[in-house]
Amino acid sequence: MVKAIRMFRTGGPEVMEYVDVDVGDPGPGEARVRHAACGLNYIDVYFRTGTYPQPLPAGLGMEGAGVVEAVGEGVTHVKPGDRVAYAARPPGAYAEARVMPAAGLVKLPDAISFETAAAMMLQGLTVQYLFRRTFPLRGGETILFHAAAGGVGLIACQWARALGVTMIGTVGSDEKAALAKAHGCTHTINYNKENFVERVKELTNGKGVPVVYDSIGKDTFLGSLDCLEPLGMMVSFGSASGPVPPFSLNELASRGSLFITRPSIFNYTARRDDLDNMAAELFGMVAGKKINIEVNQRYALKDVAQAHSDLEARKTTGSTILIP
Ligand SMILES: NC(=O)c1ccc[n+]([C@@H]2O[C@H](COP(=O)([O-])OP(=O)(O)OC[C@H]3O[C@@H](n4cnc5c(N)ncnc54)[C@H](OP(=O)(O)O)[C@@H]3O)[C@@H](O)[C@H]2O)c1
Repeated sequence: MVKAIRMFRTGGPEVMEYVDVDVGDPGPGEARVRHAACGLNYIDVYFRTGTYPQPLPAGLGMEGAGVVEAVGEGVTHVKPGDRVAYAARPPGAYAEARVMPAAGLVKLPDAISFETAAAMMLQGLTVQYLFRRTFPLRGGETILFHAAAGGVGLIACQWARALGVTMIGTVGSDEKAALAKAHGCTHTINYNKENFVERVKELTNGKGVPVVYDSIGKDTFLGSLDCLEPLGMMVSFGSASGPVPPFSLNELASRGSLFITRPSIFNYTARRDDLDNMAAELFGMVAGKKINIEVNQRYALKDVAQAHSDLEARKTTGSTILIP
């Protein structure tokens, strides 16, 4: 038996129960991983509240790092004793150990600690695909990135700096603005005090930006479209403030033939060679000290309810991990 978080109904942080579960042996294509640390991500809130439905009872958590204990038939890319990390489905990372599809596991270089890995796999691979594949940045662009002091945000600040990109980052407080700037964000906008559309227009001499990376959703969606130059790309990759309401395609035409995508990391990592290439690039950025993973909050796994409350109350910055 191992300790794990299970939810028997959707709802607030209180629905997450710290229970004993039988972890079992891996079947074909599976591996059993003993976690040293697990990552906390906003997507966990969507699963907990039922915004992303799943059959109950269910585990939670999409990210972890630890050691492979056993592998099932047909698994060749990892073996017992390997240090591994993952950002993968299905939810269930909030546990001392778990059995999961081995396809999501990546071997961890010695230079990357378990805590760093648990803090960065989901958020770091997200920035990798957003900046290198969804709207590939070459350097010299000016971009708008929302929630610049969050987990994804602080990695984005540093990755943009490394690429030579001018990043305009929105944040919810002056302290978060200072933090984003210290990590390479060129300009910050406190969207609780300032009109971010007007500020983006000022900062770009009225031109707008070629791409907006928007993970806030409902509260920022139309404003983000207003920040784009004609033929610009809206990357709507999250909905921390609530889902984007239905909208007319004319909103894209009237603003200059805009493009829009709603990407998910799990489509970008679905192929083994893509996952390996993405992870190699992320590990290189971190091992090469271009990106420092800020683990600004640590909680014991049994205190996960507090961790969720703090994340939803916008009290956290950078990455958060849970220690089983
Ligand atoms: N599609 C994908 O592949 C993918 C992958 C990873 C993450 N994401 C998305 O990226 C976003 C960031 O994820 P994360 O784990 O790094 O979280 P995070 O950015 O550390 O936390 C969310 C942040 O969103 C901001 N926010 C704005 N309005 C909010 C509201 N009404 N309620 C709560 N927060 C609000 C807050 O920052 P301020 O106080 O500065 O506003 C808050 O700190 C999430 O929307 C997540 O779903 C998407």
